[in-house]
Amino acid sequence: MNLDVHLHSHGERRYVGKLAAQAPQSSQRGRILFQYAPEFIDSGISISPFKLPLSPEVKEDSKRTFDGLFGVFNDSLPDGWGLLLLDRALRKKGSSMQACLPLQRLAMVGTHGMGALEYTPAPEIIEVKADEAVSVAELDALAEESLRVLRDAPVDAGQLDRLIQLNGSSAGARPKILVNVSEEYRIVPQGAGEPWIIKFRSAHEAPDTGLVEYAYSIAAREAGLDMPETHLFPSEATAGYFGVKRFDRVQGTKVHVHTACGLLHASHREPSLTYESLLRLTLLLTKDMREVQKMVRLMVFNVRSGNKDDHSKNFSFLLDKDNQWRMAPVYDLTPSEGINGEQTCMVNNKGLNITEKDLQAAAATVDVNARTVIEMIQQVDEALANVEKQDSLAS
Ligand SMILES: Nc1ncnc2c1ncn2[C@@H]1O[C@H](COP(=O)(O)OP(=O)(O)OP(=O)(O)O)[C@@H](O)[C@H]1O
Ligand SMILES: [Mg+2]
Repeated sequence: MNLDVHLHSHGERRYVGKLAAQAPQSSQRGRILFQYAPEFIDSGISISPFKLPLSPEVKEDSKRTFDGLFGVFNDSLPDGWGLLLLDRALRKKGSSMQACLPLQRLAMVGTHGMGALEYTPAPEIIEVKADEAVSVAELDALAEESLRVLRDAPVDAGQLDRLIQLNGSSAGARPKILVNVSEEYRIVPQGAGEPWIIKFRSAHEAPDTGLVEYAYSIAAREAGLDMPETHLFPSEATAGYFGVKRFDRVQGTKVHVHTACGLLHASHREPSLTYESLLRLTLLLTKDMREVQKMVRLMVFNVRSGNKDDHSKNFSFLLDKDNQWRMAPVYDLTPSEGINGEQTCMVNNKGLNITEKDLQAAAATVDVNARTVIEMIQQVDEALANVEKQDSLAS
């Protein structure tokens, strides 16, 4: 099987190269090969500089961190929730996600993936009805249906198709839908408004999950982080649904996004990163100390707010119009227990009881001085104190 890869960023669509998969033999897993097109190498646009540098030879990831896919392509695949939905759709057709090879999964992403990479030819497994908007009143029904999918309970076939259409190829563990939203926060048909993500809770989460993520999004902004516009969509069943404007879509065009997971081939299913490595990555990739400071601030926010789910897919970078990498806006910032109550991304070799000195030590590895870190801590703590105040008013 072969797939053509295009980069459709900032309004221009360029042929990147070809992916080829060999069918698995009984004793061997199928190999996945990739080769850049000569014209793309000439463009100088490096979509994944560490693991897939621009050079003409055929490349293969022998370590197979992502089933043989290079991280930049693995970033296009849905995970958690998206895979579960696709599996449900495939089972209706007598197949399953398990039986699906990585390139077949990418083909299903087609031209609808997050970020700016497009894969052709794409099979249409679900008919996409582009102009049917979700009403805000429908959110409760969709959230309820998502919980049924998560619990493997029987789901109405029409509703399942609707969830699949609305999910696009979004990533992450929690159910979510991709919709267009007007300036008045009404959900509008595609072509109008701006693309947003609306998240529903997982089966084990409390009904106020959306409200909590919304409150922390405000705190993150107050703490000086680059948090996109967020909104709490109304609900009769819960405290509301968290929505966030997409940063991989700007004025109707796509933007190339790469997670730390994909850039470094660092799995997000296990603690595979430290903040020191993330800070070094930010410096190497962006070559800009302002971006490094943003990552320091995000580290401070995650540690001080108790967001311990700081895995490698919760950090991303964008490639701007001038082919300059910068940190993506922040996302998924909500207190979370992580694995065994430890920070997934370690600070100064620690996952627990991280002190101001530990934060300073991590920042010092990229020459961000202690005074700057102390100022950031003060600003973050003030913003977090405001969330707690709101919390006590609400209860
Ligand atoms: N505002 C945004 N614009 C574009 N992409 C985003 C945005 N927010 C999140 N994403 C992408 O969508 C993915 C899923 O979002 P998010 O991390 O909020 O979901 P989640 O289901 O809570 O994740 P997790 O599996 O980490 O719990 C992220 O990994 C990121 O790649
Ligand atoms: Mg996430």
